Amino acid sequence: MKCITNIGLIATAYGTSPRAGSKQGEISLKKDKSILIQGDTIVDIVDSVPESLSGEIIDAEGCLVTPGLVDSHTHLVFGGWRAHELQLKMQGVDYLEILKQGGGILSTVKETRAASEEELINKASSILSEMLKEGITTVEAKSGYGLNLVDELKQMRVVEHLNLVQEVELVSTLMAAHALPNEYLDNKEGYIELIIDTIIPETARLDLAKFCDVFCETGIFNVEESRRILEAAKEHGMKLKIHADEINAIGASRLAGEIGTISAEHLIAIDYKGLSSLKNGGCIACLLPATSFYLGKPYAPARSMIDMGIPVAIATDFNPGSCPSHSLQLCCNLANYFYKLSPEEILTAVTLNAACALDLGNKIGSIEKGKQADIVIWNAPDLDFLCYRFGSNLAAKVIKKGRVIV
Ligand code: NIG
Ligand code: FE
Repeated sequence: MKCITNIGLIATAYGTSPRAGSKQGEISLKKDKSILIQGDTIVDIVDSVPESLSGEIIDAEGCLVTPGLVDSHTHLVFGGWRAHELQLKMQGVDYLEILKQGGGILSTVKETRAASEEELINKASSILSEMLKEGITTVEAKSGYGLNLVDELKQMRVVEHLNLVQEVELVSTLMAAHALPNEYLDNKEGYIELIIDTIIPETARLDLAKFCDVFCETGIFNVEESRRILEAAKEHGMKLKIHADEINAIGASRLAGEIGTISAEHLIAIDYKGLSSLKNGGCIACLLPATSFYLGKPYAPARSMIDMGIPVAIATDFNPGSCPSHSLQLCCNLANYFYKLSPEEILTAVTLNAACALDLGNKIGSIEKGKQADIVIWNAPDLDFLCYRFGSNLAAKVIKKGRVIV
């Protein structure tokens, strides 16, 4: 048995399902407790260290302790970077315009196809070790830079491999419907058929993805195309996600509510119909404030979502084009400054609600008896401090599955 002791404050959401409305900010705050860990599991939260304890003692030095952070939306595995696009953007060239000119996602597709599995593993693995140091213990990773059978499978195999060789727990999402690859520019229907008839069935047969996601956006996949792809994935046992209303509200969040995707992501441009649909469909709104920041776009209406009782999760969207940052801590700052969410609501958004967006709410996302011991000790006395300091890493110690890793 191990014990985390000398804890100043444990701040955690609780339960196994998404927290919405006023419950999003109702968290448990416990002072001067110790956490007992057996193997990879939290077994108790007690007033003092049992005298009989013989295992490792982890000293929290009077600091804040929270659950490990969960990044529920990333495009982790890719070749190359796209630093030059920043200067295009500074000159006023729009994100969708860059994509139309063959840049954007398609230039990352070129580099991802050219990269070997080993190169992709090495690159993603060094990013994951930085994420772990920042307190992130679980990460969702989307494919979508292969855009053909071989290279989509390659990206997802990289995720499968990384799950075995490093500590951050990964959840894999198939996102073959991320853009139209060059070879199908005049044959969109052909690519959709490839996704439905080949890529989805093969991914399911090889058990390479838990989720399927679609970029439902002007000039990418429309609502009906997205619906067909998501329904095919559902038939193959995948759970669903959707990139919705990132740039334009073309009906993606309405689709999300209708078909019951577990989460809808981005939602910068969501309208009232979209919000009602998410609420009625029981979807989690997965918001990505660092993407708004980097693209110079508005911030999603997070306060309205909470007021309407839609559970909010917050993630990085880490990718080479619209968010070259994997700092979930920065996302917490931005959520406080621009979404006007409270530190308590934000904690729930990056732990329990994010875990639920990955269908892992019964295993991670809170510090409670029976949950996996994914825990962060912070160089901070309380949650306010986490939202106040920005730009430096405040994680002091990171515990994954009961082991101190950082
Ligand atoms: O979530 N919107 C689509 N996908 C990513 C961007 C990917 C890229 O630009 O490479 C996003 O913003
Ligand atoms: Fe994304």
